[in-house]
Amino acid sequence: MRHFLNLSDAGPDGVAAMLADALDRKAARAGWPKGEVDADAPLAGHVLAMGFEKTSTRTRDSFDMAIRQLGGTSIVMDAGQMQLGRGETVADTAHILSGYVDAIMIRTDDHAKVEELAAHASVPVINGLTDYSHPCQIVADLQTVIEAGYALPGLKMAWLGDGNNVLTSMMEAAGMMQFDIVAACPQGFMPSDEDVALANGRARVVGTAKEAVEGADIVVTDTWISMGQEHADTKLAAMMPFQVTSELMADAKPGAKFLHCLPAHRGEEVTAEVIDGPNSLIWPEAENRLHAQKSILRWCFGQIG
Ligand code: CP
Ligand code: NVA
Repeated sequence: MRHFLNLSDAGPDGVAAMLADALDRKAARAGWPKGEVDADAPLAGHVLAMGFEKTSTRTRDSFDMAIRQLGGTSIVMDAGQMQLGRGETVADTAHILSGYVDAIMIRTDDHAKVEELAAHASVPVINGLTDYSHPCQIVADLQTVIEAGYALPGLKMAWLGDGNNVLTSMMEAAGMMQFDIVAACPQGFMPSDEDVALANGRARVVGTAKEAVEGADIVVTDTWISMGQEHADTKLAAMMPFQVTSELMADAKPGAKFLHCLPAHRGEEVTAEVIDGPNSLIWPEAENRLHAQKSILRWCFGQIG
């Protein structure tokens, strides 16, 4: 059984296979109507159930379109529509859904819930974001970086702002795919030592934004207030020196590119000038969620990697 709860579940070879597959399949259907099924329909007859205990635009729609383009169909459930939200256990939910569908994707708060779902499901379980990690996002991000002409080994990435779930998965990716990541986060919002250790010596945490972007090929940030967190003016104030501005981008490598998983808050973690500027990769990054989800699904079913 192949679950995808973190990038390490696939390992470097699995992630490399996903990236190659996503790039190939994207090219193979360039210009096609979005609803047209891929020529080989590799997941014909398969059903993906998606459960959302938090809101989503990209993850929801990209997974829905991903399974359709692979020849399958989906069921989407929001928190308020599931008995899970009224106290039915995760384990019972895993057993029930395993009898109906071929794979389950879930977005939730506590990472332990995804682990419990996987422990009791007899079909693949995919982590569509938890408070701990967001591995699906990172497959799309790496695809975007490769499309922009970079090789992952030796790449220099800078992370600015909150030491959050997306950073955890990016740290894990750095260790697996051999790129370097320097994170600049304010006191109290730094990644844990365990998260840094995921990068296998390829991650550093520094105290200023300028230090982080020095020599960076790619500059990445994310919202300062993640889903489920209280809006706190003190946190926003602490984050302000880590805002990605044009001045900061000028301190990175010439031509450095900008990534953001979205949704974005212009004027907070990044200025409009940067995120809407010529070096921003946010639109291909968001589109690649679709192509990456397809390769994640195919990996879960043992078709690649
Ligand atoms: N980046 C991302 O996961 O977006 P959604 O919250 O819209 O799914
Ligand atoms: N860190 C953000 C990512 C959103 C895709 C959050 O958890 O809300």
